[in-house]
Parts: sequence; C-alpha cells; structure tokens
Amino acid sequence: MSKHSVSVTVNGTAHRSEVEARLLLVHYLRDELRLTGTHIGCDTTHCGACTVLLDGKPVKSCTLFAVQADGRSVSTVEGLELGGELHAVQKAFKEEHALQCGFCTPGMMMSAVALLERNPSPSELEIRQAISGNLCRCTGYVNIVKAIQHAAADMRATRHTPAYVPAQEPAQVSR
Ligand code: FES
Ligand code: FES
Repeated sequence: MSKHSVSVTVNGTAHRSEVEARLLLVHYLRDELRLTGTHIGCDTTHCGACTVLLDGKPVKSCTLFAVQADGRSVSTVEGLELGGELHAVQKAFKEEHALQCGFCTPGMMMSAVALLERNPSPSELEIRQAISGNLCRCTGYVNIVKAIQHAAADMRATRHTPAYVPAQEPAQVSR
C-alpha cells in the first residue's frame, strides 16, 4: 500500500506523517497521534462520537481520510482545555450533569463548541439542530441542551479563546 505525506495542525501542533491512503482521520488521531479522546462509536457516520473540528467546522472523523486533512487544522477534545483551565463547554457539561457514560461527550462538546463559535446566542432549537448528528444513548439530551445554554452564557460574559487554531507549517515530525 503506497504512503502519502500529510501535514496536519492538531490542537495547534504541526505534525508531518506518512500515512496509507486508506487511513481514516479518526485512526490517524487515535493511533498515530495517541489522541484517544476522540471516540469511535459506529464507524458508519451515524453516532457522532468521532466529531472533531476541521478548519473550525464539525466533521465526523470516521468519514474522512487522513489525507483529506492535509494542510488543514484539526481540533479535538484534548485541545479544549487551555493552560490547565477547562473550556466553558467542558465546565458546563460537568456543572449541568450533561453526561452519564461519557462515550458521546467528546463529540457532543466539539459540536457545541463549533455552534457557539458561530452563534453565541443559539435558541434551544438551534442547539438541538447543531447536535442532531451526535447520538447519546444515556442522558435524554435535556441536560446536554442546558449545558450548552450555560456555556453560551459564560462565553458571552467572559473573554473566550477560540478552540480552532489555523494550520501552520509543520514544526514537529510525528511517527
Ligand atoms: S464513529 Fe464516526 S459517526 Fe460513529
Ligand atoms: S453519556 Fe452515554 S452515550 Fe451520551
């Protein structure tokens, strides 16, 4: 199987890797970069557990090849916390009890972050539409919606650092 060189900025760190054409982005993140916060729930584009931001937009990383991220920026749940401080969405999920088993949570939070970065004051309907690609088998969604409303209020009230980091030249070579 031929290998392809890819340069991807992940959570602000540039990586250059040789990958097989068939390698999915989620496997690149989990197996090559060891960023296992991005979960795999179905592998068939249904559950949204694998949601990451690609150039700031939520995508299902089981549905993209790693080579499609070449030259682009990826944000994962590991990149939300900054300098030891949880992101407002992470804090709100904790405070509003928006998770039970937690399997859907990284993907759910990445969809929420993308929503709040483009719409600081979403309605409940807009929140439900934004997370409609993320399935949760545990919570019933009520506290997830509350958490996103809570995070929106916090982000409006405080200075907020975007999770999305633009692509850069690779400074670090990964395996
Ligand atoms: S693992 Fe990607 S949508 Fe389920
Ligand atoms: S908290 Fe268990 S799937 Fe959502």
